Amino acid sequence: MKWFSIAAALVGPAQAGLRFGCSTLSIQRLDPLVEPGNIPSAHVHQIVGGNGFNATITTSDVSTTANCTTCTFSEDFSNYWTAALYFKARDGRYKRVPIYANADLESGIQGGMTIYYTQLDFNSNGKDNITAFQPGFRMTLGSPTTNTKDAAVKNTGLRYTCLQTVMTRGAETPDFPTKPCPAGIMAIHHFPAQATPTLHIKAMHLLTKVRCWDGKNLDSPDHQSHMFSTTKGAFQNAGPCPSSHPIRVPQLAYETLWNTTGFNDKSLWPTDGSQPFVWSTGDDKGYSTHGDYIFGWKGDSLQKAMDSTCMFTGCGSPNGPLKVQTGAQQNKCAVQNTVTEDTEGWLTSLPGRH
Ligand SMILES: *[C@@H]1O[C@H](CO)[C@@H](O)[C@H](O)[C@H]1NC(C)=O
Ligand SMILES: *[C@@H]1O[C@H](CO)[C@@H](O)[C@H](O)[C@H]1NC(C)=O
Ligand SMILES: *[C@@H]1O[C@H](CO)[C@@H](O)[C@H](O)[C@H]1NC(C)=O
Ligand SMILES: *[C@@H]1O[C@H](CO)[C@@H](O)[C@H](O)[C@H]1NC(C)=O
Repeated sequence: MKWFSIAAALVGPAQAGLRFGCSTLSIQRLDPLVEPGNIPSAHVHQIVGGNGFNATITTSDVSTTANCTTCTFSEDFSNYWTAALYFKARDGRYKRVPIYANADLESGIQGGMTIYYTQLDFNSNGKDNITAFQPGFRMTLGSPTTNTKDAAVKNTGLRYTCLQTVMTRGAETPDFPTKPCPAGIMAIHHFPAQATPTLHIKAMHLLTKVRCWDGKNLDSPDHQSHMFSTTKGAFQNAGPCPSSHPIRVPQLAYETLWNTTGFNDKSLWPTDGSQPFVWSTGDDKGYSTHGDYIFGWKGDSLQKAMDSTCMFTGCGSPNGPLKVQTGAQQNKCAVQNTVTEDTEGWLTSLPGRH
């Protein structure tokens, strides 16, 4: 609650900020954005959101093909995904790390992620109006091939927090924590990577993030250049959108809470003192962390929320503009796995990596 009250204390009268939970929709090797049609894709993902998700949703509007969602706001049929985290045992076998729900979400949500759509920051939406993403819009953040600390440090939207409790915020690192974390590891994905302002408050990673769209392309060959990424502009606070990317869209962010506590006994950790967690990409440093997004809000529901002054759960009915469903309803939505391999048992190799 501590962190949340700090965020709440910053709330001024004229902005909207969405923060909501989505339970797990599917854990499998599919990637319709980067590897459309590849069944299976290169590595395992955890996907949340609408059940329009499949291997080939290359241009479609998932808000018209899905009929349920794992997200609290029931008009949000978007898909959100990241790599999956595994524990590597001393005997070389792997076990997927369970996920737990963040604090202050709809009760009973199973696994999943916390999703944010914010404006300029928690004090103000700035001078510009925020334009919701358009049907068919998609983008990625980070890259599964990032393998140097330099590149990871520069990608400031991609960070980890070693959770002392579910509410720990700040103290972010570009690589996996090197010590056992009492409440697990939070993986943070901010679209886009953005210089972190030097604000000494715990909600720091949620502030002054600006996203700018070129206003024309729903996607681009690298899935990123239709958006303005401040990684290209070095470590500067986000300014106004450049003329190449003039449209202010919401700042999108994911938080995933990986419950590593079942693996925190140091006698299980590698004898060389290194940490034992690996992304499904095979990366044991954490540099390859990445996120994918396909927009899928029904009609103008996201725009209505962005035009409102609501905050967090206040954006839901009956007082806010968005429809809400219960955690139990969220958990009921799922997609059948197209790729039927085992991702959950004790595995001799990571799926797709022999
Ligand atoms: C994926 O969904 C789209 C849109 O509903 C559909 O056209 C396509 O056939 C589906 N592909 C697979 C592999 O199920
Ligand atoms: C919802 O979509 C799923 C998967 O596309 C389909 O199997 C199911 O029949 C649909 N249910 C309803 C009530 O339309
Ligand atoms: C923002 O939107 C409002 C309502 O549509 C409009 O009156 C105003 O001029 C817009 N502001 C800017 C900076 O575009
Ligand atoms: C995290 O994992 C541990 C060990 O399996 C379990 O006891 C605990 O209940 C889990 N915590 C949450 C919040 O799910």
